Amino acid sequence: MKVTVVGAGAVGSAVADNIARKELCHEVVLLDIKEGVAEGKSIDMMQTAAILDFDTKITGSTNDYSKTANSDVVVITSGLPRKPGMTREELIGVNAGIVKGVSENILKYSPNTIFVIISNPMDTMTYLALKATGIPKNRIIGMGGALDSSRFRYYLSQALGCSPSQINADVIGGHGDTTMIPLTRLATLGSTPVSELLDAETLNKVAADTMVGGATLTKLIGTSAWFAPGAAAMSIVESILRDEKRVITCSVFLEGEYGQSDICMGVPVVIGKNGWEKIIDYKLNDEEKAAFSKSADAVRNMNNVLSTLSI
Ligand code: 2OP
Repeated sequence: MKVTVVGAGAVGSAVADNIARKELCHEVVLLDIKEGVAEGKSIDMMQTAAILDFDTKITGSTNDYSKTANSDVVVITSGLPRKPGMTREELIGVNAGIVKGVSENILKYSPNTIFVIISNPMDTMTYLALKATGIPKNRIIGMGGALDSSRFRYYLSQALGCSPSQINADVIGGHGDTTMIPLTRLATLGSTPVSELLDAETLNKVAADTMVGGATLTKLIGTSAWFAPGAAAMSIVESILRDEKRVITCSVFLEGEYGQSDICMGVPVVIGKNGWEKIIDYKLNDEEKAAFSKSADAVRNMNNVLSTLSI
């Protein structure tokens, strides 16, 4: 098995590092446009192999797509990250051209690959990758919901004083500060709804903190986060390569599901060897349905910007 990670910045490196440590495949190719960066980071990671005891081979390449040939999965992290005060949406002008070019180049050498998209604005970049490549919808997966749900579980665990791993909770909708929808009603600690354990004010604060989870880190660090995005992408790659059929919230192309069509948005999907294999219907209540529809309007407005760009 072979995985390519495009973009050797902090997020791309974290993805490659997580995949190698877990030995999810034989080879990880890290590719970047900046001369020497992917090569250097790959060697740095390989110099942890003796200590961390992994046998996955990580190699770097400066923009030579032939090195990525026959990848089973390709993770795209390319483009600019957010700076403090920026929204993910503000990145569209620069990142759209990059993501389009990268996905087309990848497909020349790996026609059967499954794409995992991280670049922002993530739902629109996922939609763009689908339209640019024209490959079957099941092979294009946007990572946002996996990350947002992990942040939601973290904030819930802080409020409950328990391990994040004991919490089941999902964030659906768009991967934006105002478009994501933490599904508080369905969140549980073990089998107990968190709404029986926390008051409404605390739950509202947890949801609000989750929605600005990325922005909070960008403000603290000065650039976009990488540890949690890297781990979230790895979990999707793991479920594909091991055909685990995990249910993970990801941005996928909707054709009527959740009341939306011709759009990529975060919904719970089964992830296995064929990419996303099935959408799970969470049977939203009226309030959640209204939030999903509002979120879709915002994502669609962003998608409409694509036609105004010369890419
Ligand atoms: C974040 O929320 C990278 O969009 C990503 O941190």
